[in-house]
Amino acid sequence: MLANPITKYQPAEIINFPERRWVNKQVAKAPIWLSTDLRDGNQSLFNPMNVETKLKFFNELVRVGLKEIEVGFPAASAIDLAFVRKLIEENLIPADVTIMVMTQARKDLIDKTIAAVRGCPRVIVHLYNATAPRWREIVFGMTVTEVMELINNHISYLKELTDKLPETEWILQYSPETFSATELEVALQACNTAIAAWGVRIGRPIIINLPTTVENTMPNVFADKIEWMSQRIAHREQVILSVHPHNDRGTGVATAELALLAGADRIEGCLFGNGERSGNVDLVTLALNLYTQGINPGLDFSAINRVAKIVEECTQLPIHPRHPYVGELVFTAFSGSHQDAIRKGFLWQQTQQYWGVPYLPIDPADLGRSYESVIRVNSQSGKGGIAYLLEQNYGITIPRKLQIEFSGIIQQQVDTSEVEIDAAAIWQLFAESYLEYVGGDKDNLEYVDYSLETVAGGRRIVLELAHYGTPVVLSGVGCGVIEAVVNAFANQLEVVNYEEKALSHATTAQAFTLIECCDVNGNTTFAAGINADIVVSSIKALVVAVRRLGLVPQIIKLTNPR
Ligand code: KIV
Ligand code: ZN
Repeated sequence: MLANPITKYQPAEIINFPERRWVNKQVAKAPIWLSTDLRDGNQSLFNPMNVETKLKFFNELVRVGLKEIEVGFPAASAIDLAFVRKLIEENLIPADVTIMVMTQARKDLIDKTIAAVRGCPRVIVHLYNATAPRWREIVFGMTVTEVMELINNHISYLKELTDKLPETEWILQYSPETFSATELEVALQACNTAIAAWGVRIGRPIIINLPTTVENTMPNVFADKIEWMSQRIAHREQVILSVHPHNDRGTGVATAELALLAGADRIEGCLFGNGERSGNVDLVTLALNLYTQGINPGLDFSAINRVAKIVEECTQLPIHPRHPYVGELVFTAFSGSHQDAIRKGFLWQQTQQYWGVPYLPIDPADLGRSYESVIRVNSQSGKGGIAYLLEQNYGITIPRKLQIEFSGIIQQQVDTSEVEIDAAAIWQLFAESYLEYVGGDKDNLEYVDYSLETVAGGRRIVLELAHYGTPVVLSGVGCGVIEAVVNAFANQLEVVNYEEKALSHATTAQAFTLIECCDVNGNTTFAAGINADIVVSSIKALVVAVRRLGLVPQIIKLTNPR
């Protein structure tokens, strides 16, 4: 049993902020994105990345369109230092990309950080210190006044150092770490102290980054805090207000989205939500959430599988199969009613402007994912998914009645195997059931050859068949080929529906014939044939129909009375 929450945990924080405006706002444009995959994400790995891996990740971030990338903590890590030097010395940072390096508020670390980035044309130096009461009191034993002095002293020191190095464009990012747990007045004082110490003015902006170092409130409470800060912070016009949500409550994405409504200009996070504990906010989800609302996120995830592969390789962490947008299963519908709706939705979509396929919040093709994996078939599935897979993979459309009949065959198979069945297995079952049906032993009858001639009253067909390997020759006359074949089968069956089509998915042109037949007792069956010659595909379909209706012994007897 869980401990009693009433006595163990404090009630949810409430902010008295009736003037909040974010509730009535809408997001209209993408924020500035910063990837902290190579810093916060990297710090949370079993095996932190080496220089080579970092470079591979960095290049992918650049390819995706990130313009601000936190590359590490060079004063604290030899690998991060080597990586930063490599980026700078080998000129690997594109002109429109700015790297960010992190440092604690300590003079020796600031010195090392500035030395690490010498020669870089533009750098964001990210300086942070903890501000929340628990950290002040338990971890550092500092008063609020001492915290403010720490900020002022170290940012002034950083300013002095960087003022002497004008060949680099220096941008300061200040983070009151543990902002989410800090009294708002104290957080505001910390940020304003940083702003004053850095000498912020027009042309000398600052990034103020407000983290949910540990996510501890509902996203609306965080949004209130962001709007509260945004309204009060000094030199707001020169402040790029950034948020850095973690995901301890599983609401990192909501927190970031509401923060945008509340005035945040920038979001820091990691691809696919890697990061300490439950992760940093997932930049991919955020970007694609915007995309599906008709907003250009400025990040390109049109080859999302490639991005995922690189991230998994670099982090050595798997992405969950149900992770939004990227998970292996997120464009898969197992349930029959969902499959049916998706299949109908794809047809409907062909005439629409805006995306609206039921159950698919985004067009998988936009992410470079294929429709083939949209529908998978297991014991929960229905005819819609099966029909869709046949249509998509083999170009075969089957009528509703056959969908129902065939889904029974599939169902039997998946109930027995208790596993999912893919398009190839569905096709094999379709072929065994309707294309090459051997049925009971008594029904063995194979097509061998045919010849056609024009005679009075229509066309005469001579059919060469094999009954248990023994040649059987039948002939019949009719207005067309089908009627002539039916006549050759002693009129023991009738074709009630006939469809033929060229198979678009076949490598060589093939005709596909699908027929529905009934015998003289009214029993019906579907049967199909495939061949380059349309006459052969029709004959093959009729031979299968004869087998499926169990008519072979009867036809052999009627046509060979001896
Ligand atoms: O989560 C956090 O608070 C951080 C800061 C250093 C920004 O990563
Ligand atoms: Zn963090």
